Amino acid sequence: MSKNLLVLPGDYAGKETMAATLRVLDAVIARFSLDVSIEQGLLGGAAIDEFGHPYPEQTAQLARAADAILLSAVGGPKWDAVEPAVRPERGLLAIRSDLDLFGNLRPAILSPQLAAASSLKPELVAGLDLLIVRELTGGIYFGEPRGIHTNEKGQREGFNTYRYTDFEIERIGRVAFEAARKRQGRLCSVDKSNVLEVTVLWRDVMNELHQEYADVELSHMYVDNAAMQLIREPKQFDVMVTGNMFGDILSDAAAMLTGSIGMLPSASLDVNNKGLYEPVHGSAPDIAGQDKVNPLATILSLAMLLRYSFAESQAADAVEAAVSTVLDQGFRTGDIAVAGEDVIGTVAMTDAVINALES
Ligand code: IPM
Ligand code: MG
Repeated sequence: MSKNLLVLPGDYAGKETMAATLRVLDAVIARFSLDVSIEQGLLGGAAIDEFGHPYPEQTAQLARAADAILLSAVGGPKWDAVEPAVRPERGLLAIRSDLDLFGNLRPAILSPQLAAASSLKPELVAGLDLLIVRELTGGIYFGEPRGIHTNEKGQREGFNTYRYTDFEIERIGRVAFEAARKRQGRLCSVDKSNVLEVTVLWRDVMNELHQEYADVELSHMYVDNAAMQLIREPKQFDVMVTGNMFGDILSDAAAMLTGSIGMLPSASLDVNNKGLYEPVHGSAPDIAGQDKVNPLATILSLAMLLRYSFAESQAADAVEAAVSTVLDQGFRTGDIAVAGEDVIGTVAMTDAVINALES
């Protein structure tokens, strides 16, 4: 049965990593005889330029009809002056919310070939394989009321609301427990229940759910300690589950353990595993248009898409193996090179992946 893929190219260097990944996709389709129909849409800055909105109705309709969505990084200085309600990032938040993509999987895997590229000592990170499960459509990112107003004293006051229902906590908890079950069976739930009631509830719901997943080892950690432990001894973690904002922050920290955020893919799934797949990194305006950006995070996002939304695990394995092969062969973009290593560009890295895939 034909699968319907929506491609949203993104902005700045995002466009380059998407062009690279679509070349890889062509090679995968040919090698595995996949039946995929591809539509293109716009999200973020490109959509603002074309339609005046970061998540226009045209894109929403394509996104709702798609089986899976591949997105590259959005945003950049061109839209810095745009009013906050229609900034490129709002497009990202809008599509996550519109499609109810509450389950965000952010693996932080250190390719053994890159241990020296991490800012931590190789022995602390070699073999790292951590999964952050971040709640993506609730919490303080979406809580109402929110805004900036002038209070009774005439002072300007900004406010947001941090709220979660037990329903939202339970469904992200299930994603995390299920993931832990398929891995090493250890789940660490991250909260701030010494201060915030919303996360007292979070902890309660995780404990209740644990009764259904007694085979998984559940622990709890305050978010400040979790940030410290990630840097101190990251290999203690298997799966971490946390809310939207803590997950945003911890996943960047975890990404850096792996040497480069340029290597990390992510998946955002709804209850039926329909998903949006995107690199964790941003649109890298400083190096955009210079054939410098690392395409591997977007290519690995394609691998996740093939695995979770298209159930094409062989094709997914092949893409991941091809990435591993090029690292073995010593190919490095600037972000993952250590002193003395030769650096290649986006296009050459993509050529190498396609070669590996075809051989
Ligand atoms: C991420 C990004 C987004 C987020 C921004 C761009 C809105 O940082 O995907 O982690 O905060 O979720
Ligand atoms: Mg982030």
